[in-house]
Amino acid sequence: MSLNPKPHSGVQDTSDSFPQSDTPSTRISLDEEYRLLHEVADILQTPKETRAMLRQVMKTLTGFQELDVESKAGVFLADSENRVLRLYTTYGEFTDEFLEKEREVPFGDCLCGRAAESGQLLMSDSCFSDDRHERRFQDMTPHGHYIIPLKSRNKLIGILFLYTRTDPTWYRFSQEVLLSIGGLIAGAIERQLNEEELGRYRKNLESIVEERTAELTAMREQLRKLNQWMEEVREEEKKRISREVHDQLGQSLTALSLDLSWLGKRIEEGEAPIRDKIQEMRESVKQTIGLTQKIAAELRPPVLDLMGLSETLAWQARQMEQRTGIACRVEIDNGLQFESGLSTAIFRIFQETLTNITRHAKAKEVDVTFKRNGKSYELTVKDDGCGMDPEKLKAPGSLGLMGMRERALIWDGTVEIESSPGCGTLVRVSIPVASGEY
Ligand SMILES: Nc1ncnc2c1ncn2[C@@H]1O[C@H](COP(=O)(O)OP(=O)(O)O)[C@@H](O)[C@H]1O
Ligand SMILES: [Mg+2]
Repeated sequence: MSLNPKPHSGVQDTSDSFPQSDTPSTRISLDEEYRLLHEVADILQTPKETRAMLRQVMKTLTGFQELDVESKAGVFLADSENRVLRLYTTYGEFTDEFLEKEREVPFGDCLCGRAAESGQLLMSDSCFSDDRHERRFQDMTPHGHYIIPLKSRNKLIGILFLYTRTDPTWYRFSQEVLLSIGGLIAGAIERQLNEEELGRYRKNLESIVEERTAELTAMREQLRKLNQWMEEVREEEKKRISREVHDQLGQSLTALSLDLSWLGKRIEEGEAPIRDKIQEMRESVKQTIGLTQKIAAELRPPVLDLMGLSETLAWQARQMEQRTGIACRVEIDNGLQFESGLSTAIFRIFQETLTNITRHAKAKEVDVTFKRNGKSYELTVKDDGCGMDPEKLKAPGSLGLMGMRERALIWDGTVEIESSPGCGTLVRVSIPVASGEY
């Protein structure tokens, strides 16, 4: 049995079979071929699921009358190592037995395996008399085959098989057209499969990103809670130390001062040096009492718990004015009330901005505003000092600025700083109203 039956036994001799003269029948056939190629290319270019696309191509191809084939066909795809063909999709009717047995065909096996191995168009005129048709099925009816390799850039992607009658009249004109169609199909399959792979990859990536984002959000929330808890612990501790300093230390020192006064009164007239020393000690104790009160107030100003945030901000601004001589204009809404944690956070941020102004700004004037602005509470502190390089804002060593941001973040808030050398500094703290509603 020859590899390819006569008269057109394969692609190698298609030049012989190609009509030389432009007779009317050639003309018609060429027109038909162009139409077929055009139609197939059109289907392959229209976005569609790969199997559906291939079934449509098989329908068009088997419907091409000049080819004279049955309206059933199928496509195998080659595995990545070019060892087996796997049935990818079929068009027309096939038995369950066929579909089951033909799920995989090794390269070199039966007609399709042979065409895959050689990469050549293969034609078989009878399934019963052609020895290469090794696979048999129950109730197999006589038929022949066109087995078309699907090659893209010389790489075998798969096989397309068509059914003919036994001893068919082989397609009279260029069998090249079948190989061309095979090439078009291979290119489209490759592109589609790549796209599908890419799509799967993208989806996978998206789900990983989504997962990571969720993890990060959860982690951020945990950190926020931890930070909040630590802040509460720190504040409680400061409150306790402030009370101890104020009450215990303050009372002991007061007692000491009274004792010294008592002692002073009992010193004899002639004991002037001792009397002076006691007087000195009384002064020193008095100063220490003042100092403890200051430390206690700085640890936790009682006014914050007694009078609320707005009063405390105004008080703190006055304190700075008195201590440094920097004029402090204050515009504060007194009607605002907050839960204790938020009051403390805003107060601590304010303290840090004032400390920074005293330490770094060389300012003459400071403007402070605190009010509700739409859906946020807004604190602004503006100085007319030396300003700073914006790079400083991001510097890892700027712990004070970082602490301000972290404190605001606990309440979903932000701290923005506008500054440039020579142009002063504006600090704007915004806290969403919903976070601290009282
Ligand atoms: N109001 C300001 N005017 C000028 N420079 C400032 C001001 N606030 C902060 N800075 C600059 O930003 C830097 C970082 O501030 P901060 O994080 O609070 O650190 P620290 O106050 O401990 O130096 C400061 O060292 C200072 O140079
Ligand atoms: Mg600072």
